[in-house]
Amino acid sequence: MNWSRFYLASGSIAAACVLLAQADLPFRARSRAAARPARVAFPIGQPVKIPAPLGLPPVPVPADNPPTAETIALGHRLFFEKMFSRDGSISCASCHDPKFGMADPRPVSLGVHDLKGTRNAPTVLNSAYNASQFWDGRAATLEDQAAGPVGNPVEFIHSLTGVERRLAASPKYVQLFEKAWGPGPITYEMAAKSIASYERTLVSGNSPFDRYFHGKDRTAMNESAIRGLKLYLNPSLKAANCVSCHRIDADSSLFGEERFHNTGVALDPLTRQIRDLGRWAVTGDTTKVGAFRTMTLRNIALTAPYMHDGSMKTLEETVEFYFEGGRPSQYISTDMPVPGLPDIPKDEQPQAKKDLVEFMKALTGDMPALAAPPPE
Ligand code: HEC
Ligand code: HEC
Repeated sequence: MNWSRFYLASGSIAAACVLLAQADLPFRARSRAAARPARVAFPIGQPVKIPAPLGLPPVPVPADNPPTAETIALGHRLFFEKMFSRDGSISCASCHDPKFGMADPRPVSLGVHDLKGTRNAPTVLNSAYNASQFWDGRAATLEDQAAGPVGNPVEFIHSLTGVERRLAASPKYVQLFEKAWGPGPITYEMAAKSIASYERTLVSGNSPFDRYFHGKDRTAMNESAIRGLKLYLNPSLKAANCVSCHRIDADSSLFGEERFHNTGVALDPLTRQIRDLGRWAVTGDTTKVGAFRTMTLRNIALTAPYMHDGSMKTLEETVEFYFEGGRPSQYISTDMPVPGLPDIPKDEQPQAKKDLVEFMKALTGDMPALAAPPPE
């Protein structure tokens, strides 16, 4: 990752995601930042291994930020720290709330000063496995993500140094940063890397599905969920075909993938306008207008409402959407199911929909210990 991007970063990081949601174009920002020298902080402690629960692959860790007990503990505090927002009113956990599966029950998040966002806050559970971050993948890594918004130098001057200054004024933080990063001035890079290491511990697996499918415990899922799994795995575009995007694999299952698709969520059914350009705004790839990352379905029962705009309140609504083939337009993904799912007989469809919902409810995993707020 290019740490010089921090110099261009803007805004309090608490409003980071929301500001970023407003179509900043990171590829442009990156090229402007390219001339600056890189600063690389490296944790001083012993690297620790983050164990992966049943059903999940080994946790990927970047070479320049091996997690240590100290950086994780610091990141844990920072994630719940309200000092990050300019007015001290919100922390990361305000929108990635442990009570709601580390997501936000509001359709779109509100930022500091009631800045209105346009996107729903996804869970940070299992975000360690995301091939890119955000609905449109505009951040490559968790470190990048925590680095905050790029391309708004005016606000940055105020608040990135502001955050560094606030942390440096706190004896508690000075001590924690020294333990994690060694003596010297606190930099935002250290904070972002600590938060990323903390987030990597937020892995959640061992769900009823994991015990059934990966653990071979035939009693772990009920009959309805088992029927739902069968539908889910059917690769025909005339049946549910969920698995070709929300992936299940032999050894471990992420229930997401690295690709971006237009499913039609962004299409306004009345005006036929695309309300959010999604991936297109990041890459300029005209086949990705209104396309978003295939989000994980793990812990989905905890993280309503659904979709990038939080427009669907229930899992039933999401299943209904796919049975209708999404909202077709010239941009719709060729992997989207055929409207009406003709391979599932009409009279079996009501039960099939229930079974798919029941299956998704079996994807709720164990909560990682550090999802709870840190001790005072
Ligand atoms: C005001 C609400 C809000 C706050 C505060 C907030 N986020 Fe977010 N977060 C969001 C929204 C909304 C998105 C999705 C934005 C998008 O995709 O355009 C998001 C996305 C993310 C993602 C990407 C997840 C994925 O699956 O792509 C991560 C990781 C994340 N936030 C971590 C953090 C961290 C760390 C902090 C604190 C430094 C933080 N967030 C603070 C609302 C918030
Ligand atoms: C073509 C690939 C594709 C297929 C097939 C697919 N999905 Fe999705 N899914 C996506 C994408 C992309 C999103 C994000 C869409 C958006 O918000 O615009 C998504 C979002 C979701 C969400 C909301 C996730 C969240 O965090 O809000 C649910 C639930 C869901 N899909 C369930 C299903 C089910 C059930 C099936 C099978 C009936 C299915 N999907 C088939 C690509 C796919």
